[in-house]
Amino acid sequence: MKVGIEDICFYTASYYLDLQVLAEVHQIDVEKFYAGIGQEQMSMAAPDEDIVTMAAAAALPVVEGQDKSAIRTLLFASESGIDQSKSAGVYVHRLLELDPACRVVELKQACYSATSAIQMACALVARQPQQKVLVIASDIARYDLDSSGEPTQGCGAVAMLISADPKIMEVEPVSGLYTEDVMDFWRPNYRGTALVDGKYSTKVYLKSLKHAWLDYQQQGGHAFSEFNYFCYHQPFTRMAQKAHSHLLKQVGASLSMAEAEAQIADTLSYNRSIGNSYTASIYIGLTSLLENAEHDLSGQRVGFFSYGSGCVAELFSGVVQPGYQAHLHKDYHQTLLARRQSVDYATYRRLYDYPNPVDGGEHAIAAETTGPFRLAAISQHKRIYEKTAS
Ligand code: CAA
Repeated sequence: MKVGIEDICFYTASYYLDLQVLAEVHQIDVEKFYAGIGQEQMSMAAPDEDIVTMAAAAALPVVEGQDKSAIRTLLFASESGIDQSKSAGVYVHRLLELDPACRVVELKQACYSATSAIQMACALVARQPQQKVLVIASDIARYDLDSSGEPTQGCGAVAMLISADPKIMEVEPVSGLYTEDVMDFWRPNYRGTALVDGKYSTKVYLKSLKHAWLDYQQQGGHAFSEFNYFCYHQPFTRMAQKAHSHLLKQVGASLSMAEAEAQIADTLSYNRSIGNSYTASIYIGLTSLLENAEHDLSGQRVGFFSYGSGCVAELFSGVVQPGYQAHLHKDYHQTLLARRQSVDYATYRRLYDYPNPVDGGEHAIAAETTGPFRLAAISQHKRIYEKTAS
């Protein structure tokens, strides 16, 4: 029995900052961002957008037309939690009008947890193939102003329906794993922005790739030559290029530069414009590959390297299914990206500094999002979500 991704759709926020604006303010050559880290823009959430509204918007096209009673599990992966107790997935469950006979839980391990959710979902479906699992990854990446991480902010959500009818991609069973207790990137409960040891984080990312690959081989995984494409976690797209060179060296692959680049290039397009979306980024990378590749990917094997600081990493593979093109949401994604509104530095700062009320009062939030759901208010410490007219 095949198990894997039946449907995949992403969403990102209504605004974006072109990194040219940041480069001018910081008097840096913009090529450091465009070429050096491989980022052109970063999505910025409106005050009435958050991980819940983005998650629900990503999942809406996935659940529309589905028999909702088959979706008996919703796994919500995030490292930008809005509540220490309640799963953000429960709000999404209501906004999507899912069946009450459903388990909902939130998973956290930095940028890795969506992969864990997919693996758990595949195991659930293997036990009861008539059931489907909705996996949603949603994050807002925020670093301190003027920090090295500032140009690598962004936000987005991706929803995947995992089932025994994987119209998009079968997830193959072998995984390579690596965990090590390190402090490369973290966000204590009292902070709204992440702390990061930037250079160290890239070293740990590459070290984890090496160990995950070795474990993958030990577990009986495919040889490097059996892969057609690779999709990496993309905190910034240059990181994926560095990771791929690292893997090529490790396996001693004799590919030309053009051949190596062709194995990852199409995974990078969407994230160059969205920025880091933490848990969602690798799977936005997958949609980018599926929707931007010039030729038919049916039967092609994709290697995934998922990395979450702190750190946990997993390397696994999937095979693209014949006829996948008919199930993509390419127009939805491209319209979404095209209709985002560019912001100037003053607006970027307004969005960045937007207050997060903690006093338990009544805080109505003006309507700004162009998406289908919004955070309408924070009232007596409760987040109030509603559908919009769009
Ligand atoms: N033209 C072209 N290239 C230029 C340039 C110019 N004018 N100026 C600089 N560059 C190049 C540099 O040579 C460098 O290239 P290499 O990496 O190939 O050497 C690149 O641009 C970046 O320059 P710096 O190394 O000087 O950049 P930095 O130190 O200011 O920032 C960073 C880099 C540390 C990664 C920073 O972006 C950061 O802290 N990011 C957040 C942390 C992060 O994303 N870590 C990734 C691994 S952790 C993870 O994956 C989890 C997660 O999601 C956070």
